[in-house]
Amino acid sequence: MAEIIIALDLPGADARRLLDQIPEARWVKVGSILFAEEGPAFVREMAGRGLSVFLDLKWHDIPNTVAGAVRGARALGVQMATIHTLGGSAMMAAAAEAAGPSLGVVGVTVLTSHTPEGYAEAVGRGSVTVLDEVARLAGAAGRAGLRGCVCSPHEVATVRAQLGPEGWVVVPGIRRAGDAAGDQARTAGPREAAQAGATHLVVGRPVLQAQDPRAAFLEMASAAEG
Ligand code: C5P
Repeated sequence: MAEIIIALDLPGADARRLLDQIPEARWVKVGSILFAEEGPAFVREMAGRGLSVFLDLKWHDIPNTVAGAVRGARALGVQMATIHTLGGSAMMAAAAEAAGPSLGVVGVTVLTSHTPEGYAEAVGRGSVTVLDEVARLAGAAGRAGLRGCVCSPHEVATVRAQLGPEGWVVVPGIRRAGDAAGDQARTAGPREAAQAGATHLVVGRPVLQAQDPRAAFLEMASAAEG
């Protein structure tokens, strides 16, 4: 059973209208663009609607700064926030400690926009196998005390093996049969992702652009029950 997180990749007013149509929504993702436009007030508003908020700002900075950002998110009433695992073990441990029990900090391993060549160049290595890097970074995230990781649908089993049974495995790129893939290269259905071990499915366009967003959400949620 996985939770559906609606990715609010919309202007604030449109996001509010969408949520008015989906009273069953439980989780929303607020990313960098919406946060830059609407600020913390929007996050408070979502929490005030009774929604759990995934604040996806992907922090990567010195441990003291990331810990401060995590404390800020916690004070805002956020339930999940992202950091980059490439920030290192000390940064991840500082974030995990600052989060306390109410906020789950999850780590991004290898961005899905990276090609193997682009990633190898960024980290100064001759060549890499992306899945090995994902496993290495997910293992480091677990040891540093993070609640879980974000990963592509094809990495769920690898990340689950590193985190053990309790970790959160947060997965975007979710599409039902017949949904347009858009710019997502690696997709999976909601049932398939949940059965592979995902705990949270991040869904944007299949709900945002549906003729009937509530019906699309309910179909996703039902499939994610596994
Ligand atoms: O519209 P779609 O369902 O593709 O939206 C997926 C959401 O997950 C977007 O907000 C996107 O930025 C985010 N995301 C992703 N791939 C990642 C990390 C985050 O698609 N690796």
